[in-house]
Amino acid sequence: MTPVPGTLKPLSFLDEALETLRAEGLYRRLRILEGEQKPRARFDGREVINLSSNNYLGLTTHPKLKEAAIRAVKELGAGSGSVRTIAGTMDLHMELERKIAAFKKTEAAVVFQSGFAANAGTVASILGKEDLILSDELNHASIIDGARLSRAAIRVFPHKDTAALGKLLEETADVKRRLVITDGVFSMDGDVAPLPGIAALAREHGAIMMVDDAHASGVMGQNGRGTIDHYGLHGQVDIQVGTLSKAIGVLGGYVCGSKSLIEYLYHRARPFLFSTSHPPAVAAACLAAFDVLEQEPERIERLWSNTRRFKAGLARLGFDTGMSETPITPILVGEADRAMKLSDLAFDRGVFAQGIGFPTVAKGKARLRTIVTATHTEEELDKALEILGDAARGLGIIP
Ligand SMILES: Cc1ncc(COP(=O)(O)O)c(C=O)c1O
Repeated sequence: MTPVPGTLKPLSFLDEALETLRAEGLYRRLRILEGEQKPRARFDGREVINLSSNNYLGLTTHPKLKEAAIRAVKELGAGSGSVRTIAGTMDLHMELERKIAAFKKTEAAVVFQSGFAANAGTVASILGKEDLILSDELNHASIIDGARLSRAAIRVFPHKDTAALGKLLEETADVKRRLVITDGVFSMDGDVAPLPGIAALAREHGAIMMVDDAHASGVMGQNGRGTIDHYGLHGQVDIQVGTLSKAIGVLGGYVCGSKSLIEYLYHRARPFLFSTSHPPAVAAACLAAFDVLEQEPERIERLWSNTRRFKAGLARLGFDTGMSETPITPILVGEADRAMKLSDLAFDRGVFAQGIGFPTVAKGKARLRTIVTATHTEEELDKALEILGDAARGLGIIP
């Protein structure tokens, strides 16, 4: 039968997919932040202790970042007006790249619109269909998407398994160009990559070594220089990615490495070539953030002392926090609907800890993902522990 014109609904499969999400307990409404991103914040009309942001050092609201952004708007306007490669490269963009390269102790750096664009744009532009990518199974989605876009072959090695990586490198010795890629800190589990072993293997087998330090920059290493600095591996990682959206508190991503790598990316990384550059306020606030990292290292110390306090509290309560070694501390719950129930209950009682389920984490590994920040008070952390403990006990998650 010919359908009546205008009655066909070619997108109706989306409603079915949403129904499935609802049935699996994976449907989420976006929580709306009313006001600033702070350790105590107002979401959906409720004041809560906020354990869900990536604002590790509290820089989203730092007066120096805000002043720098306001000044940049007044002096340079609201937008950059072009992609970097045409008319959208301002002094501030170049200054930020110089600052990041010096901070990370590399020859050069390039800034992208986001960490996602930095990872995906880099991997997709330096590899092609003759090449091979060796990737940790828990690497970030932006690495996975970049790998797919590159059309290179992809071999995934078990999480942090250097022995398995070594075997894969031996088996694939005939491939001319290989990339070994890992997150520095894994975003959903908060554990740290065994970088010395991985970097040594990459070097031994002549593979390119790339680390995504999105969650380590501003958090680990001297003044927050990241995992490469933490392990003393300067000069041994060919490509370092970072984000300006987490500890730095603003928006953007960057790649650090040799001058030729950065010049190549200027010419070939598609998000750099085909998407407008940051507004001046973003670049100016990021510049101010790197000054704060140098001038206020006590923020990082506070982040870690808060992390220790919170983790010890979770352990006392009997929570399973998996492999976490950093401020990212998952509270492992199992099935997605239980995680979402716990998250909702905690929220109603005054704690925002986002429930995370498939596809962000594997099925059966749903969790509340918590991140404490340098700016939480001890009282806030203790109160959050009390609320999480009561809620989880009520659901039979802890004894
Ligand atoms: C490990 C990792 N890499 C990259 C990104 C992307 O960073 P951005 O938010 O700046 O796009 C994220 C953020 O979710 C991340 O967790």
